[in-house]
Amino acid sequence: MENQMKNDRREFLKTSGRFGVVSTFFGLNSLHVFGADSKQSKSEYSNNEVNSMPSQNPFLKLNNGIQMPFIGLGTYELRGKSCIKAMQDALKVGYRLFDTAQMYENEKEVGIGINTGLKTQNISRKDIFVTTKLSNDMDYKETKKQIDIRLKNLNLEYIDLLLLHREFDNSEAMWKAMQEAYKMGKIKSLGLSNFSQEKFLSFIKSCEIQPVLNQLETHVFFQRNKYQKILNENHVVLQAWSPFSKGKNDFFSNKTLLDIGKKYNKTPAQVGLRYLIERNISVVPKTSNIDRMKENIAIFDFKLDSKDLSVITNLDTQKSSFGWFKG
Ligand SMILES: NC(=O)c1ccc[n+]([C@@H]2O[C@H](COP(=O)([O-])OP(=O)(O)OC[C@H]3O[C@@H](n4cnc5c(N)ncnc54)[C@H](OP(=O)(O)O)[C@@H]3O)[C@@H](O)[C@H]2O)c1
Repeated sequence: MENQMKNDRREFLKTSGRFGVVSTFFGLNSLHVFGADSKQSKSEYSNNEVNSMPSQNPFLKLNNGIQMPFIGLGTYELRGKSCIKAMQDALKVGYRLFDTAQMYENEKEVGIGINTGLKTQNISRKDIFVTTKLSNDMDYKETKKQIDIRLKNLNLEYIDLLLLHREFDNSEAMWKAMQEAYKMGKIKSLGLSNFSQEKFLSFIKSCEIQPVLNQLETHVFFQRNKYQKILNENHVVLQAWSPFSKGKNDFFSNKTLLDIGKKYNKTPAQVGLRYLIERNISVVPKTSNIDRMKENIAIFDFKLDSKDLSVITNLDTQKSSFGWFKG
């Protein structure tokens, strides 16, 4: 399975609605709302600002009206007890969004960690958002079965967001099964990952239920400006995977990010995440270290100025740090 997924992953390396943005805070007020039901125009999507934020975890409003936290915890490579502990720690320090996948082979541990955390920390299920992904190319019947396995593995009554992990030969048939699970209430939102711009535009034409987001490699070295514009025009949120480019290109010691961070007493990790958040990009940084979890979520109490933004924009190489997505 692992090997098959590695091959699949290599494969997507090769190939590879409407939405609104809300700055709503847990238990706090709403700043800007750009939603399907909002009267604001499309052009305003790009003008949304996440400014003057208190130290909370704000939300994006998806094209189906559901609110999703801006920041979540990535779980790739988290395994066993340390995965369970990471989920509980993350809940403790304020994370409410968790990103896993069939391929990560940790859904059970993610589920145990979340369910235990909810009980012991007295958090309501409705206040958390769990994403998983279908990682194998499957026919309609197998997809239906695999959706139920995801629910069983996670030990949840519903999944907040189910993604197609990449473009598959059977993407349309898989989406059909996903739409049915959505209508049955097993899944609250449907989305994509690693779809090229071309495939994204053709695929959404075939969807009865539109994807709410596309999860793509996105970070300061690969900023996705053009693709984000296309997603915005279709009301689909961009969510960044590997928002630190997994430390590649010396992300954590990058001089530009370090220098900007000094002005705000923030680390390169915080500056890099804040940059994406200011562009209304959701982020799922991964760490199993509670101090880093705290650091990575402490990005809502400062705002980059226009000079910072343009300097960081210049870091864009317009290329994948992993060499596996054609965009
Ligand atoms: N859809 C897809 O195809 C796809 C592909 C890749 C990833 N993803 C998702 O995106 C998530 C994030 O991507 P990723 O895990 O590849 O990489 P990432 O989040 O860009 O980087 C994770 C790395 O950064 C380190 N790190 C985290 N916070 C740090 C900090 N504040 N200072 C210094 N180092 C820090 C982590 O180390 P420690 O853990 O030791 O702290 C880990 O080595 C994944 O976990 C997964 O959920 C999706």
